[in-house]
Amino acid sequence: MDKIKELLKELTLKEKASLCSGADMWHTKAIERLDIPSIMVSDGPHGLRRQPEGADQFGLHKSVPATCFPTASALACSWNPKLIYEVGETIAEECKAEGVSVLLGPGINIKRNPLCGRNFEYYSEDPYLSGKMGTAFIQGVQSKGIGTSLKHFAVNNQENNRMTINAVVDERALREIYLSGFEMAVKETQPWTVMCAYNKVNGTYASENRKLLTDILVDEWNFDGVVVSDWGAVNDRVQGLQAGLQLEMPGGGKDNDRKIVEAVKNGSLSMEELDAAVEKLLTLIFNSEKNKEVSSYDVEEHHQKAVKAAEESAVLLKNEEAILPLQDHEKGAKKIAVLGDLAVNPRYQGSGSSLINPTRLKSIHQVFSEKGIEFDYAKGYDRLVDKTDIDLVYEAAEIVKDTDVVIIVAGLSALAESEGFDREHMDLPHNQNDLIKEITSIHDNVIIVLVGGAPIEMPWINGIKGLLNMYLSGQGGAEATFDLLFGHANPSGKLGETYGEKYKDYPSGKYFPEGPSTVEYRESIYVGYRYFDKVKLEPLFPFGHGLSYTSFEFSNLVLSKKELSVGEKLTVKVDVTNTGSREGAEVVQLYVKHKNSSVFKAEKELKGFDKVSLNPGETKQCEFVLDENAFRFYYTKDARWCVESGDYEILVGSSSRDIHLTGGVTVHGVDLIGHEEWQEAESPYTAPTVPFQASDRDFSVIFGETLPTKAVFPGESFTYDSTLKDISRTYLGKKVYGAVMKQVMTPTKSQDGEVVLSENELVTNHMMEKMLPHNPLRSLVISSNGKLTYGMLDGLLLILNKKRLKGGGKLVLEVVKNLMP
Ligand code: BGC
Repeated sequence: MDKIKELLKELTLKEKASLCSGADMWHTKAIERLDIPSIMVSDGPHGLRRQPEGADQFGLHKSVPATCFPTASALACSWNPKLIYEVGETIAEECKAEGVSVLLGPGINIKRNPLCGRNFEYYSEDPYLSGKMGTAFIQGVQSKGIGTSLKHFAVNNQENNRMTINAVVDERALREIYLSGFEMAVKETQPWTVMCAYNKVNGTYASENRKLLTDILVDEWNFDGVVVSDWGAVNDRVQGLQAGLQLEMPGGGKDNDRKIVEAVKNGSLSMEELDAAVEKLLTLIFNSEKNKEVSSYDVEEHHQKAVKAAEESAVLLKNEEAILPLQDHEKGAKKIAVLGDLAVNPRYQGSGSSLINPTRLKSIHQVFSEKGIEFDYAKGYDRLVDKTDIDLVYEAAEIVKDTDVVIIVAGLSALAESEGFDREHMDLPHNQNDLIKEITSIHDNVIIVLVGGAPIEMPWINGIKGLLNMYLSGQGGAEATFDLLFGHANPSGKLGETYGEKYKDYPSGKYFPEGPSTVEYRESIYVGYRYFDKVKLEPLFPFGHGLSYTSFEFSNLVLSKKELSVGEKLTVKVDVTNTGSREGAEVVQLYVKHKNSSVFKAEKELKGFDKVSLNPGETKQCEFVLDENAFRFYYTKDARWCVESGDYEILVGSSSRDIHLTGGVTVHGVDLIGHEEWQEAESPYTAPTVPFQASDRDFSVIFGETLPTKAVFPGESFTYDSTLKDISRTYLGKKVYGAVMKQVMTPTKSQDGEVVLSENELVTNHMMEKMLPHNPLRSLVISSNGKLTYGMLDGLLLILNKKRLKGGGKLVLEVVKNLMP
C-alpha cells in the first residue's frame, strides 16, 4: 500500500516504536497527527468478551452480553467445519456490533494430556481435526471482515507455570503433532494475526523464538500477518521484535517502546527491521478500518444458532437397550427423576480469558419444566464442593424409588477446569461419584448427562445405560440437551479425543504437569489414539466414537489408484447408507496406515472426514482427495517432510476403533530402509509399552541432544523470571506478593462484613490464587498498565538480592521518573 509506505517516511522513530505495543488492555495505539486510528481486539474464542470502557485493568471481569457458543472441545465433536464456519460468522457479526476488529481466537493447541486446565478451549488431540476446525473458524470470522488471532503458537499444552516453563519436544513431534494444525490453518486462511504462546519452546521463549515466528511461520508457511504476544508473554522486547513479534499486548507501559528506540539508536536493531514490523501493523490497522461499519444483530437468532451448535456437538457415548431417546408427551411417557445441582445451575463454559457474559441462559430443570415434562428433582450434590453430603444423597435415593428413568446431570466443577492451572486428577468430584454409585445400586435405568471440557474417569460406567456428553455446550446447552434426550434431535457428535479408562493409561501421564523449569514431551508423537492404538490398549471410549439413534452402513470403497507417486493425488470414494428409521448424520472418518515404515509411526492417522446427513434408507457418496500430506512424516535427519515409499492402507470407519472398509495403495516416495539411526535398537518409540516410559537416554536420542537441566531456580539471586512465589520467601517479597494478590482478587469482605461473591467472581479468585504465584515478575510490569516499570523492578530486585541501599535508591528514583510527564 502506497499510503503505508508514505506513512513510514513520516513517522518518527518514537512513533514507530510506540505502534509496536498496545495502548491498553485491548487497543492498539492511535497516532492522531497522521490519522492512524486505534483498533480494538477482544477475546474469543467461543463468543465475544468485549469489556466496556473503564473495566478492570486485568481484563477479567464484566463484559458486554454476547452469544456463548459451545467451547472448542465441544465444537470439535461436531466434526462439521461448516458449522464451525457459521459459528465464526455469527461471532464476527457480534464483533461488528461492538466495534471489535480482531477476535482473539481460535486456540488450536493439542490436547496432549487430559488434565491440561485449558483443554476445554482447544479442539482435539489430533492435529488434522484441530487444523480443520481452526481453519473453518478463521474463514467464518474473516469472511465478515473481522480478523482472528490463531493461538497459542506454540506447544502451550500445560497451564501450570505456563509463563516460564520450557517445553522440551523433539522435532518430529513438534512438526507432526504440535505445529501441523497451525500449518494447515495458516496456509489455508492467512489469519490476520497469530498469537505467540507464553512458554519457552526448546529453550527460547515463544515470544522471541525466531525459528517459530520467522523461519517456520513466515519463511515456510508464508504468513504475512501480525504476530501478537499473548498477554504479558514478552520477555526481551527487542529480541522479540527481531524474531518476528510485531505487537506486544497488553500495552500501557512505555519501557519496551523506549528499549526499541534505544536499540535502533545504538545499532542493535536496524531501522529496516522496525519498518518491516510497522508496515505489518499498519496493514492490520488499515484493513480493520476498512471493515469498521457498525451493525446490529438479532439476539434470538444467534441464540438459536448456539442451540444448534450444542446439538451437533454433543456425543452420545452409551445407549444400552436404546434407553434413549425418551418419550415426552406421548402416551406411556416414563416417570422421570432428574438429579444434580448442575441441572439447576448449569455449567456451560470454562473460566479465564474466554469467559462470556451470555445473552440468554436456561437450566435443564427450567427447560424440562417449560416443555411440560413431568419429573421429580433432587439436588444430589453441591456443584462447588467435593465432600459428599449424605442427606442430599438420601433425598435423591428416595425420589428415584418409583421412577422409570433417572437422569443425573454430572460434571466437572467450575473450580477444577480453568485457564491458568491444570486439573489435579481425572475424577469427578467425590460427591458426584458417590451419588452415581448410590443411585446405580438401586436403579437400573440411569442416564448421565455429562458436562465438562475434558475426559474424566468413570468408575460407574457399567452401572448406567445412557451417557450423553454435552461437554461445555454454551448458552444453548439446556435446550439442546432436552432436544437430544427426547429425540427432537439425533446425536451426531464424535469424540475429538480419547477417553482413557484411567489417567495412568495416557502416554504423557507420568510426564504431566512438569516444572517449574521444563516439561518433557517424552511420548513424542504418541498422543491420544496414536498411542492407544499402537499399544493396543482399550480406551473407555475411542477417538472418533459417537452413537446415533439411527444406524449406518458403509460400502463400495473405491481408490482411484493402486500405485501413487509423490505429487499425484489419490481419490477415495465410499458410500454411506442410513439403515435405520430416523434421519441422522454420520461422520465418515478416513485414516492412513503405513504398513512397512522404516521409522516409528502411529498405527494410523486421521487424514480425512466428512459429515453426511441422511434420511432413512438414503445413500450418499463421500469423496476424499488425498495428497502427499496424507502420507508424509517429518524426516528429522534431513530436516524436511518426506513421503516414504511403501504399502499404505486406507481405513474408513465410524470411529478410530470401528473401521468398516480397507483399501491399499503402494506409494513411490523416498526409500529410507536402513537410514534411520534409532531404528536399530528397540526403543520406547518403536515398541511403546503400557504404561508409556522413556528413559532420559531414550528421549535424548530422539530429541537429538542432551536434555536441558531440570534444576530449579536456586534462590541465590532473583531475576525478571523469578515468580511471586519465589520471592515470597523473603520479607519484602511476601509483602509484594500480598499487595499484588490484593489488587487482583475480588474482596470477600467489606466494611460491613462478608460479601457474597457471584460464582464467576469466586471462580476467578480461585484461578488467581492458583495462577498468580507462578507468574514471573516481568509479567507484572507488562500487566501494570504503566504503573510498574522495569526500572522499578530493577530496584526491587536489587533489594531482594540484598543490595538494599542501592535498590532503595533506584526504586525511589524510578518512581519519581515515572511520575514525570
Ligand atoms: C490468554 C489468551 C487471551 C489473552 C487476552 C491470555 O491470558 O492466554 O488466550 O487471548 O489473555 O485475554
